[in-house]
Amino acid sequence: MSVHIEAKPGEIADKILLPGDPLRAKFIAENFLEDAKCYNNVRGMLGYTGTYKGERVSVQGTGMGMPSAGIYAQELIQSYGVKKLVRVGTCGALSKDVHVRDLIIAQGAVTSSSMVEKQFPGFHFAPIADFDLMMQAYKVAQEKGFTTHVGNVLSEDTFYKDDLTSTFNLAEYGVLGVEMEAAILYYLGAKFNVQTLGIMTVSDHMITGEETTSEERQNTFKDMMYVGLEAIIA
Ligand code: HPA
Repeated sequence: MSVHIEAKPGEIADKILLPGDPLRAKFIAENFLEDAKCYNNVRGMLGYTGTYKGERVSVQGTGMGMPSAGIYAQELIQSYGVKKLVRVGTCGALSKDVHVRDLIIAQGAVTSSSMVEKQFPGFHFAPIADFDLMMQAYKVAQEKGFTTHVGNVLSEDTFYKDDLTSTFNLAEYGVLGVEMEAAILYYLGAKFNVQTLGIMTVSDHMITGEETTSEERQNTFKDMMYVGLEAIIA
């Protein structure tokens, strides 16, 4: 057991998908895994372990934002020995070349959060994805013909911002989209020498206002989950 996860030792696989929404963890377990068993219900933050194409895989909700996601990722790594962690979530698009329903594979995560900065006084650490996981995810997405972008995302602490000028400015520097978890995941990957990756589907466009219907969101979520699972077992 760890502080926020009640699984017994050995109940969590060393490969895990991390959706923010615990009900999406349940959805993945029910739709993609065989023999899935729930190992966590503390705070309703559901976690399951099952098999995908014969490989043991877990899926764990993390909640929204870096403080919450960082807690789950760190406990999974430190207390349960998880070695490959793939976030599957949504993001708002920033780049004009990115559209709703596209996939973004976050190669790096710019962040305004002090969670990473505080660890490195005097430096701006560059949180980056694991190259092998990223390559596998890209390959799978290409094979399936999913529209996929690879590059920087912005990991923010604030969903509702009064002034988006500086956020929009990042679009001019190739930042593809905005989300709230990748930077801390990549930081923890570096800290504990484990493999981490964030894959996001675009749920809305921050600049054009383009949005998805809930049905469209469900379908693209499935594409992303497939990419995440295939990358993690490769
Ligand atoms: N920020 C802004 N828009 C979004 C986000 C976010 O974190 N996620 C989905 N749309």
